Amino acid sequence: MNRNDTIFTEQLLPCGKTFPNRLVKVAMYEHLSPIPGGPPNDFHYELYSAWSKHDWGMIVTGNVQVSQQHLTLGRDMVVPQVLTNQTIQPFQRLAQVMHGDQHSQSLAIMQLSHAGRQSSNILGGRLPFVSPLGPSAVRFGHSKRNEGVISNIFHRLLFQTPKAMSSADIDNVVSEFVRGASLALQSDFDGVQLHVAHGSQFLSPKSNTRTDEYSYHSLLLLSRIVNAIREVVPRDFVLGIKFNTSDYSLFEGSEAKVAQEERALTHLRQVVSWRTVDFIEISGGDYENPEFMLNSSSITSAKNPRQAFFAHFSSKLMKELSSVTSSDQCAPLILLTGGLRSPAHLYTALRSGHAHLLGIGRASVLCPNLPTVLKRRRAAEADLSSDVTPFKPEPDLRFWPSGREPWRCIRKHFPKVKLIGAGVGMAWYVVMIRRLAKERIRRVDDQNGKKFEQQECFEPDYNTRGLGAITKMWVWIDAPELQQTNSISLAIYVLMLVLMWYLYLGSRSFLFDSH
Ligand SMILES: Cc1cc2nc3c(=O)[nH]c(=O)nc-3n(C[C@H](O)[C@H](O)[C@H](O)COP(=O)(O)O)c2cc1C
Repeated sequence: MNRNDTIFTEQLLPCGKTFPNRLVKVAMYEHLSPIPGGPPNDFHYELYSAWSKHDWGMIVTGNVQVSQQHLTLGRDMVVPQVLTNQTIQPFQRLAQVMHGDQHSQSLAIMQLSHAGRQSSNILGGRLPFVSPLGPSAVRFGHSKRNEGVISNIFHRLLFQTPKAMSSADIDNVVSEFVRGASLALQSDFDGVQLHVAHGSQFLSPKSNTRTDEYSYHSLLLLSRIVNAIREVVPRDFVLGIKFNTSDYSLFEGSEAKVAQEERALTHLRQVVSWRTVDFIEISGGDYENPEFMLNSSSITSAKNPRQAFFAHFSSKLMKELSSVTSSDQCAPLILLTGGLRSPAHLYTALRSGHAHLLGIGRASVLCPNLPTVLKRRRAAEADLSSDVTPFKPEPDLRFWPSGREPWRCIRKHFPKVKLIGAGVGMAWYVVMIRRLAKERIRRVDDQNGKKFEQQECFEPDYNTRGLGAITKMWVWIDAPELQQTNSISLAIYVLMLVLMWYLYLGSRSFLFDSH
């Protein structure tokens, strides 16, 4: 047997579904719908067909919001209010595209999410200055104080203090998730993943200051959602969760880190004991502190590919699982995501027992055919466990390409604004996701056989840098809503662009900006 074969072995989930290998294209918000959100469109279909041709074990959609009034930055896919043949049809088409041709056995998973207090003003799907719902009335960004008056004003403009959910609101959220799962089921998705990471608001003392049972039993909402979904789906419907290892603490430092890890482990022990979850994705951070988006090279040097971002935590969980549930068919598979960008990262994670499944986000945009590339390298009989060459080079995201930023002196005096989303890095990948979708649309329209060949080799645009990425993310000339626009929506669009651009310019944390 080829010593590199561990990745391409069939996997079995507790629900009974199988899939061909351990490579998972994880959730990435596509930013391809109209600003008020909506169903998938041609851009989504083209995008997902770029992945479905390449033998990924599992493909997960970007977050599909269960509440039309709780989008992230707009352009999210949204679960329709009412499920009818007509509203389900675009999702059916998406599932069909994600399943690829008849030989493909990849699983198509829909990620369901409720943005809660992280839902932004205006872009979040509510009337301006209408509060979103959250566990408690604690504003997003509240823990970062003393950032300056202008910064605070802008941040308050973008994020309102949420309204604490009443028990009726909570019941409603449960039924929204159930509607999301029913949508996935009726659209022929293989399952759903619940997004409980990057700001899991009921689980975190940062955002949950309630005094009712949702405080002392912080998993209560999640358990209600999981149980309610299990009641309406067949046993072989996949149910996964994306879980946070590190947004549990208001404090920083190693003691707090240990305490929050222990809290996360305690939660996961309980989740495992439910015996109703098929896989658990390990991630961390939230949009105030987006650890999940750290540049992989800053954490995992090429010489030390052992440390994927959350590998330490997931290996602890794996050890617990193997001691508690050694032959338990109901034990969930562990999916590790964050910083896996070369063959060595993948093989080391498996051989070191860090995970069963390997989650790939940004590298799947740079290299949508990653499983094919990996197979090709494997066929060359190389020992891939020491191959630290990234599948594709990472972008240079300095804000100004030359390194000599002409307006550095102006920016120094610019009022700083707390991080919005995950900064320049997020913007660059959103632009590349759009490029991947659009290039394919152009080529598919053109019936020329030669162009079809080119379709296979997507090239990211490395000439787009930080400033270009932010501009292109927000100025999308062929955006769906601009195809039939009126002057009021155009004015709102322009106003929003100016605001977003300002926020990025003033953002305190340019994660990928080497200055
Ligand atoms: C453009 C972009 C959008 C993302 N959107 C989501 C999302 O919708 N849901 C989610 O759970 N994670 C999202 N993430 C986080 C990724 O799933 C993943 O956790 C993160 O990128 C780290 O993995 P990587 O190092 O392989 O990229 C997003 C990341 C990027 C770059």
